[in-house]
Amino acid sequence: MDNDMAGSGTVNERAPDGDRSFEAVRDRLDMSLREAMTTQRSVRRVLSDDVDDDIVVACIELALKAPTGSNGQNWEFVVVRDPRVKGELAAQYRKAWRVYGGIGERVTAGDEAMARIIRAVDWQVSHFEEVPVVVVACLSGPGRFVPASVGQSTHYGSVYPSVQNLLLAARSVGLGASLVTLPLWNQCSARRILGLPLSVQPVCAVALGWPRGGTAPPGAGRWAMWCTWTATDGGTGVTAGPCSAEPVLVD
Ligand SMILES: Cc1cc2nc3c(=O)[nH]c(=O)nc-3n(C[C@H](O)[C@H](O)[C@H](O)COP(=O)(O)O)c2cc1C
Repeated sequence: MDNDMAGSGTVNERAPDGDRSFEAVRDRLDMSLREAMTTQRSVRRVLSDDVDDDIVVACIELALKAPTGSNGQNWEFVVVRDPRVKGELAAQYRKAWRVYGGIGERVTAGDEAMARIIRAVDWQVSHFEEVPVVVVACLSGPGRFVPASVGQSTHYGSVYPSVQNLLLAARSVGLGASLVTLPLWNQCSARRILGLPLSVQPVCAVALGWPRGGTAPPGAGRWAMWCTWTATDGGTGVTAGPCSAEPVLVD
């Protein structure tokens, strides 16, 4: 079982046996939003088995339903399957992980949950070229040169909602998916590896494949330090601690 899934002990419903064609998994896209959102986790240990192009396209089509700043829709999704390109991204990932992973191990020493994540990232870093599909989410245009923080926020915020949609769609069809940025840490190299023009910025990537292990438990230990809302009568409510497991109606 995947280390970042340890403890679930549940049936491996993420990796349908036998037929993994789009036709076989298409209906899974109708999974309830709540189920997809509460069970979507980073699944890094995936099989090298192929993933049907139609499944990847269906997930990206749902990614494109997301909002963008000024409705710019200035996203570009680069689907990487070429082993040479994945190999070069893997080399970048290894370089970044040697530094970042080393720091992470020292800072989180004694924390078993973090140790599990680090072991899973270790696995992904050493097998990245075997991941069947890597979708690189990019932004085009000059937005990254806008100095104001709200401009930067709008620029990068124009890709992450779509990436979250992609992760949820992947979760629903049963694919393992993980959001990664470290393979792109060197933007110049990433652009060269992917053959992107200067006007297109690779922002993050989603590694996709059929999972090796069981289902991941719902995201645990998610705390909102502060939940605030404005009440209908104009007053302000503030609460500290974990958000309710039930949806909270925010007026
Ligand atoms: C902006 C961003 C960048 C991330 N980059 C990486 C990465 O390079 N490698 C990796 O293994 N995980 C990466 N992650 C995934 C987080 O480590 C992961 O979401 C977190 O540990 C929570 O685990 P979960 O997704 O299983 O709930 C990234 C997540 C975000 C939001």
